Amino acid sequence: MDFEDVIRKRFSTRSFKDQKVGKEELDKILEAGRIAPTAKNNQPIKIYVIESEDALKKINEASPCIYGAKTVLLVCADKDSSYHKGTYSTFEIDASIVATHMILEATNVGVDSVWVEMFDNEKVKEYFNLSYEPVCLIPLGYKTDDYVPSPMHTTRKAITEIVEYL
Ligand SMILES: Cc1cc2nc3c(=O)[nH]c(=O)nc-3n(C[C@H](O)[C@H](O)[C@H](O)COP(=O)(O)O)c2cc1C
Repeated sequence: MDFEDVIRKRFSTRSFKDQKVGKEELDKILEAGRIAPTAKNNQPIKIYVIESEDALKKINEASPCIYGAKTVLLVCADKDSSYHKGTYSTFEIDASIVATHMILEATNVGVDSVWVEMFDNEKVKEYFNLSYEPVCLIPLGYKTDDYVPSPMHTTRKAITEIVEYL
């Protein structure tokens, strides 16, 4: 897909079919995450693919925003090995760039997605025995036939409101 089409066609999906993401598509999505840039190239990232019945049950307990998806990515980052500037660390930025790469690749290969930050951080860490920090969830799949993007999808500030030439 043309890049312009990818960035315009992506929208948040909040109702998924009862179907896992195909292996070929999922591999492409994960590869897009792997090649994403990170500060100093430290790559302090771990991506968990949640697909088993047990793991899906746990992630649904930890978040109200899974929306029926049967494939969920849990994007985590390691504070310790990320780039530091004093007490400041880029771990969340690194993970967010990785997540953005994967969401855009998902659109490119015909897979719907949503970025989810509404989850119980402590539950996720405990359920999956994580040492890295969970940064976001990405439910993935195929939208239900009747799903239409939220009005928020087309509600954006004007370019003049967000851009200023100095
Ligand atoms: C950092 C971030 C956190 C978000 N968290 C959630 C969430 O927890 N649950 C949810 O349903 N949508 C979540 N969203 C989706 C946004 O609500 C959505 O991207 C925004 O309303 C614009 O709509 P669009 O993605 O359809 O263009 C999140 C998006 C971002 C970028």
